[in-house]
Amino acid sequence: MPQYKKPKGTRDLDSKTTEIFEEIRSLFLAISKDLGYEHVEIPIFESTKLFERSTGETTDIVTKQMYKFQDGKNREFSLRPEGTPGLIRAALENNWINGHNGNKFSYFGPFFRYERPQKGRYRQFFQLGAEFIGSDSLESDAECIYFLSTLLKELKVKNLIKINSLGTSQERLDYLKNLKEWLNKNKKNLSKEDLTNIDKNPLRILDSKRELTIKSIKNAPKIHDFWGSETSERFKKLTSILDKININYEVDPCLVRGLDYYNSTVFEATGHEGAQDAYGGGGKYDSLVADLGGNSIPAIGFAAGVDRIASAIEMTDLGPFCIFLPLGNECREFAFPTIAKLWDKGIPIKAHWNETNLKKALKRANSSSAEYVLIFGEKEKEKNVITCKNMKNGDQKEVSMKVSEIASALGLNLK
Ligand code: HAM
Repeated sequence: MPQYKKPKGTRDLDSKTTEIFEEIRSLFLAISKDLGYEHVEIPIFESTKLFERSTGETTDIVTKQMYKFQDGKNREFSLRPEGTPGLIRAALENNWINGHNGNKFSYFGPFFRYERPQKGRYRQFFQLGAEFIGSDSLESDAECIYFLSTLLKELKVKNLIKINSLGTSQERLDYLKNLKEWLNKNKKNLSKEDLTNIDKNPLRILDSKRELTIKSIKNAPKIHDFWGSETSERFKKLTSILDKININYEVDPCLVRGLDYYNSTVFEATGHEGAQDAYGGGGKYDSLVADLGGNSIPAIGFAAGVDRIASAIEMTDLGPFCIFLPLGNECREFAFPTIAKLWDKGIPIKAHWNETNLKKALKRANSSSAEYVLIFGEKEKEKNVITCKNMKNGDQKEVSMKVSEIASALGLNLK
């Protein structure tokens, strides 16, 4: 029996999962670069006050979920539960915000929340995130939604983007007043926590994952009833841009997000209709930069949960691209230099070095869902060819041992 166990809610990531994480990270970095985001790394702990001030003193994250500690000089720090406050702190401290068209940053790393652990919800998890500081144009909102949607699309993770607007601060105040009145008259099936939130932070109740609460607030007033003409117009224009760029979205009047700093556009990417746990989410936060000591400039951003995206990929995916099956000692030795040349060209091939029987070897290759299998047995050795089998459609052909021909049989074009 092992003497020690990992802390509850943390994960030991095996090599398959870290490989998927790496795939997500490199695609994220590539899109981030294409869209002009600068990738940065910031500390994983910050002053506790920074999160209290930004994420919000009444949010679940700050009231219940922070890993707080004191350092040797009794200073209060917290492991970061989210990336936005630290990123804005860093941007202000390092004078990173200076562009006429805004400045854009991306980040990737571990985050910590003391939550009740379950599948997709961990105490240490990974987020990728992007923040676009200093631009108020509608296209910045559309760009952020495009970024998240494209990342998920390219990773082949089916998703639906939900969008809403929290309006201006006045519209939100009017709405909150009305919502409180309604909740006070319709308390019956609310939980104890919901009841304390009526006065403290009624939006949290709309964000609840508790079924009875969700049911009983179905007819609560919606924020869109309090939008002024500017907010309505902005939201309409945003949806029309999203239509033009083929984003799979849905307007969700109950989407409020669980952090305090949002206003106007908010969005979330969910796995399927009714899914409780989002792959990612974000929105506009136009007062946070000023709240943290900067000028009054608008911003928008999002973050996505890498663990959740990875588990969706694990479910849908995908074995190695290509498996190489040399059948026996001599074939192995003979074909190794060719396989090494293919590796040199960056072609991903997983060699199964211990196979001798074709039928069993194919069965094993098939169960790992490879796209292609390269077979090299006695027959191939005599003819100096290799057999390339497409595992999706069963097509099979013999090609010469030339690297370029093998690559082309694998559907790759070597330059
Ligand atoms: P958030 O919605 O709190 O937003 O987190 C973003 C994503 O992180 C979630 O959709 C989820 O996929 C993942 N996540 C959150 N908590 C956990 C957990 N305990 N275990 C696994 N995954 C989790 C933010 O964090 C904002 N900072 C996003 C943002 C950036 N807004 C503007 N800019």
